[in-house]
Amino acid sequence: MNAPVINPFSLQGKTILVTGASSGLGQHIAIRCAQRGARLVITGRDKARLQATYDQLQGESHVQVQADLTMAEDRDLLVQSVNALDGLVHCAGMQKHCPVRQLSEQLMNDIYRVNFLAPVMLTQSLLQANAIAQQGSILFMLSTAAHIGTRGLGPYSAMKSGLIGIIKCLALEQAKRKIRVNGISPSAIATPMWDVHQQLLEEQKARHPLGLGTPDDVANGAIYLLSDASRWVTGTSLVMDGGAVI
Ligand SMILES: NC(=O)c1ccc[n+]([C@@H]2O[C@H](COP(=O)([O-])OP(=O)(O)OC[C@H]3O[C@@H](n4cnc5c(N)ncnc54)[C@H](OP(=O)(O)O)[C@@H]3O)[C@@H](O)[C@H]2O)c1
Repeated sequence: MNAPVINPFSLQGKTILVTGASSGLGQHIAIRCAQRGARLVITGRDKARLQATYDQLQGESHVQVQADLTMAEDRDLLVQSVNALDGLVHCAGMQKHCPVRQLSEQLMNDIYRVNFLAPVMLTQSLLQANAIAQQGSILFMLSTAAHIGTRGLGPYSAMKSGLIGIIKCLALEQAKRKIRVNGISPSAIATPMWDVHQQLLEEQKARHPLGLGTPDDVANGAIYLLSDASRWVTGTSLVMDGGAVI
């Protein structure tokens, strides 16, 4: 008799928390993970948009939690709503163009709080609460801006590359529990984040040998890093950019 074929890319039976699930990449990742059999905990700030994601989740027993992740009390509320997570995907974030010469302390703080402080402190609280299961997978949404310079993206770039430092240290700290910690570094993907930069997005096409990517491309990378197929991968970042940085 043939042994059953086990699909290492399956998310069947896994519980996955996705932040930034009310829009763009987070929304897409949540929907795709549910299609692969995962139970989702989704979070975002905007109630209506979060509900729209929730309505598109295949399967049952998903949970939605409205939260502003820059607020410690909202993060605490979210942590209280989960246990035994097999996956955590940090997608909440924002990008603002501003040359360093014109930078204000307020802008720097805003970019820091949502792109760096929120994912790091949410991870800290979840680990402290033992809410991430053994062999779980933690995934930070980075950007090619973490790897290369881009005019006007200094603060955003700094936060995303700062997360690479956290990823490497946390990967070592959590290896004893077989929890993996990785990042995904996408280049430009058309999401609501680009709504006010349509011209810039158009200009991006020329620097991508394989053309621009789609939210599905990023979701496929996330599925790999959340699944048992990546059980030996930790402390790294998957650059997904259609060849832009080469
Ligand atoms: N799109 C790209 O080209 C690209 C490329 C590289 C990396 N990324 C990264 O991918 C991630 C997702 O980007 P996206 O393109 O999907 O952007 P998006 O469509 O603008 O979505 C951003 C998400 O972050 C959430 N968010 C923002 N501030 C928050 C806060 N204070 N508390 C909780 N949630 C908050 C938003 O929630 P609400 O809508 O509910 O406010 C929304 O769900 C970001 O980290 C971004 O840096 C994107």
